[in-house]
Order: sequence, then C-alpha cells, then structure tokens
Amino acid sequence: MIRGFLRETDAIAVLTGAGVSAESGIPTFRDAQTGLWARYDPMELATPQAFARDPALVSRWYDERRRKSADCEPNPGHLALTRLQEEFEAAGKHFTLITQNVDRLHQRAGSRGLLELHGTFWVWRCTSCGEEREEWEVPFPEHPPRCQCGGTRRPSVVWFGETLPESVLAAAWQAAEHCGLFLSLGTSSLVEPAASLGRVAAAAGAKTVEINPQETPLSPWVDVSVRGTTGKLLPTILSARE
Ligand code: APR
Repeated sequence: MIRGFLRETDAIAVLTGAGVSAESGIPTFRDAQTGLWARYDPMELATPQAFARDPALVSRWYDERRRKSADCEPNPGHLALTRLQEEFEAAGKHFTLITQNVDRLHQRAGSRGLLELHGTFWVWRCTSCGEEREEWEVPFPEHPPRCQCGGTRRPSVVWFGETLPESVLAAAWQAAEHCGLFLSLGTSSLVEPAASLGRVAAAAGAKTVEINPQETPLSPWVDVSVRGTTGKLLPTILSARE
C-alpha cells in the first residue's frame, strides 16, 4: 500500500522526530536520561528559565548532546530519506523534509533544504547582541560560551515555552497542506505544533503513514501506522516501487 502511495504522488512531506536518530545511538527525548544527566528532566533543562537559572548547566547538557551526536553516524533511515529526496527531485516532484531534531544527522546523510522546526544545537546565538553562528568545536572551552561582545551565548534551539521560527513553521504547514503523501517518522506526536502536521495533511486529503515502534496519538488518524523502527523499515519501504 505504501509503495502505491509513493508511486502515485508527486508531492511528499516527511516529518521526523528523535526516533529517527535512535538507531544512530542518540537517545530520544523521552528515553530516560543516563549518567550525570539521569537526575535531570529534559523538559526542565530545555527552557529559558533553566538557562536563566544556571546557564553553565544547560550549556554543558547541550555540549554533551553535541559530543554524542558528533560521535554518531547517520543510520540507514536517514540515508533512505536522502535517496528518496534525490529520486523525487530528479523526477521533478516535490519533497519536503521537516524535522524536530536538532542534531543535523539528516544533513550529514546528504539531505538538503530541511525545515528545522526546533532549530539546531550546532548554531549558537548571543543573548546580548544576537549574533548567531555555527559552532562545530566540541567540547566548548567554557560554559556557557561567551560572545566577543561579552554576552552569554545559547543554542539556537526552540525551548519549551518559546515560539517556533515563523517562516519555517509556515513552510512546514504549507507542505503538509499541499502534499499527496505525508510520512510521520519516529515522533511521539506529543509536542505542538509539529504534532498537528499529520492531521493537517490528512484533512487536506493526503495519504498519511506513520512508522513508530509504539502507538502515538496520531496513529488513529493515519491511513497506515507501521510498528517498527525507521532504520530497519525505511530502506525497504522507500526503495521498491513495483
Ligand atoms: N525508529 C522509529 N521510532 C522510534 C525509534 C526508532 N528506532 N526509537 C524510538 N522511536 C519512537 C518512540 O516510540 C517515540 O514515539 O520515537 C519517538 C520519540 O519520541 P520523543 O522522544 O518524544 O521525540 P520527538 O517526538 O522528536 O519529540 C518532539 O519534543 O521534547 C521536544 O523539542 C523536543 O523535538 C523534540 C520534540
């Protein structure tokens, strides 16, 4: 059935979550934290209040996640999406990859033109002068990192209670409303507004597919909900069209 959807559509929108990076060795957001972070709730660390309270702690947490991500490689799920993008674009069809992930493993797998709904921890911003730049050096020599203006720098991610980048969200909504096929991959579909994109696509008449080892609030809304992991399933599902 999914292969039929892929054959029949000329516009696909894909939403990914932390589950897509799990098989690369990066714990999902709702997986229990390990080691020195076990006593912290990520929901509490990923907030402007936590950064205001203890910028060094939050900076160290993101630096730890940067280190982990730098030590990982994209997995077959990431690579299958890159191939699908190449095939669709070579055929003059539309392909939009929308991610909630901040690890840039999609980009390292060769995906282009992503919509990063929640930003990335590979770009940091000064809280005083607003200067923003990519930061690939791991680990940071100091926590929190400082700007030349003397200001404190923070990761350019969207924290709980903060709004998403307007143009990115508008483009994601547009892609969901105008696609013929929407794939929801490795996301718990719990965090808005990303969690609504699947239903937006369904309401606009698109075929909708979910891949997740567990049921999610989106499962009852999609045409096909597959129980399994993206690293194992995507290479097979996305390659064959016969
Ligand atoms: N393949 C596919 N899905 C998987 C895999 C896998 N190998 N491993 C786990 N999953 C699923 C889990 O069952 C879960 O439903 O991935 C989902 C991960 O859920 P979350 O940790 O909630 O991550 P995500 O949906 O991306 O969270 C959304 O919430 O916390 C904020 O900003 C953060 O971007 C994040 C957003």
